[in-house]
Amino acid sequence: MKVTAVLLAAGQGTRMKSDLPKVLHPLCGKPMLWHVLEALKSVTTEKPVVVVGHGAEAVRKYIGDLAECVLQEPQLGTGHAALQAEPLLKGKTDVVIVTYADMPLLRGETFRQLVETQRLNPGPFSLLTVIADDPRGFGRIVRNADGTVAAIVEEYVATAEQRAIKELNVGAYCFQADWLWEALQRIEKNPKKDEYYLTDIVEVATRDHFPVQAVLHDDFVETIGINSRVHLSEAEAAMRLRINREHMLNGVSLMDPASTYIDVAANIGRDTTIMPNTYIHGNTIIGEGNVIGPNTIIRDSRIGNRCKVLASVLEGALLEDDVDIGPFARLRKGAHLKSHVHMGNFGEVKDSTLHEGVKMGHFSYIGNATIGANTNIGAGTITCNYDGEKKHPTEIGEDVFIGSDTMLVAPLKLGDGARTGAGAVVTKNVPEDTLVVGVPARAIRKLERKKKG
Ligand code: UD1
Ligand code: CA
Repeated sequence: MKVTAVLLAAGQGTRMKSDLPKVLHPLCGKPMLWHVLEALKSVTTEKPVVVVGHGAEAVRKYIGDLAECVLQEPQLGTGHAALQAEPLLKGKTDVVIVTYADMPLLRGETFRQLVETQRLNPGPFSLLTVIADDPRGFGRIVRNADGTVAAIVEEYVATAEQRAIKELNVGAYCFQADWLWEALQRIEKNPKKDEYYLTDIVEVATRDHFPVQAVLHDDFVETIGINSRVHLSEAEAAMRLRINREHMLNGVSLMDPASTYIDVAANIGRDTTIMPNTYIHGNTIIGEGNVIGPNTIIRDSRIGNRCKVLASVLEGALLEDDVDIGPFARLRKGAHLKSHVHMGNFGEVKDSTLHEGVKMGHFSYIGNATIGANTNIGAGTITCNYDGEKKHPTEIGEDVFIGSDTMLVAPLKLGDGARTGAGAVVTKNVPEDTLVVGVPARAIRKLERKKKG
């Protein structure tokens, strides 16, 4: 059985009061449209179709080849939107799931129940409903005596009696494809709003005496739809709880889930502990046995195993195993800290590799540099990598000792075992095992290196 999803995403989203198309507003790090596409993956067999309109260019650009796009222009309502998929899908699928792209919390499992209900339904379609005290402007479900659906009544046309109905239209439908296209043509324009409402397709079915089945869903949270930023924040909170719960069930400790913000794409290994007020954004991958936070922001970074990251900000960084950083470390793109690196407070590293066992305890800036294994970077060391026009590299060897407050004026190389005196301004390459001091630094003596290990 071929199952195809059609997502309606052409509406203006007026109530969001935003320049960004509604369906591109992010929820735990991904646009709401992504969440819907993701949930549908497990139920559909064909590439989904997204109906775009308002902000079509931006939405299409985001979608890329995640889905097919069709343009709805002008936007004449949800029924008219669904009809735009006909040229792409007619004769090509057995079943069509139609849903709204502003319902990002619906789960794959819920769509599966809907498809299953429709498979057993002699009628042409089934839809999802929920019972809730707060109707949030959703369409009300009017049932026949036999339990089939008689109508969906939109709130603004509902009578007082209909408004009191607690069963609501969620906005997910499963249709027999060959019936759908013709039925969509028969929806009449709603006289009040000058739009074709998908919800009026119930009327088309009942006119033909076809039964419409409803799947009553028991999780109201999943059915949060986003029309305003208030709804967006509610959906974000619900999604965050869901993500955090999943991590905890997978063996991650969250000391305070309420102040832990993990994007949907992040990956965290077992026995890692996340302390309060921590943000893990983007495609971050964190291994096992780490302690992250409190007060930490990590974006698009990779962290190995058994690391400690305290009160720090990481972006585009790579930490191998047993790395210990913070408090107040800042790692920017291209920072690569190999195993057993220690980086203390107020350090910044960008586009640099710190090899095994490098120690950088206090107040330093390391940019466009390679630092050899077991080198010690004294407090206040700066790589002067920028001359106002270009960035220049600094190469520091192994077992080097950089004295406090050293300025390393790049381009520059320091050989293995070199040392600099406190306050040195190093402008020339330093041979291995050599001590340089002063401003500008000059060599004063050859050193004898203690061999380690
Ligand atoms: C809709 C339903 C309502 C349901 C609610 C659940 C209709 C008429 N009403 O109301 O019964 O309870 O969702 O969330 O369907 N769209 C288009 N083209 C258009 C108009 C809308 O693609 O011409 C898209 C929007 O981008 C949006 C979706 O359809 O993603 C739903 O539209 P929206 O205006 O949000 O409908 P609701 O008022 O929420
Ligand atoms: Ca909506």
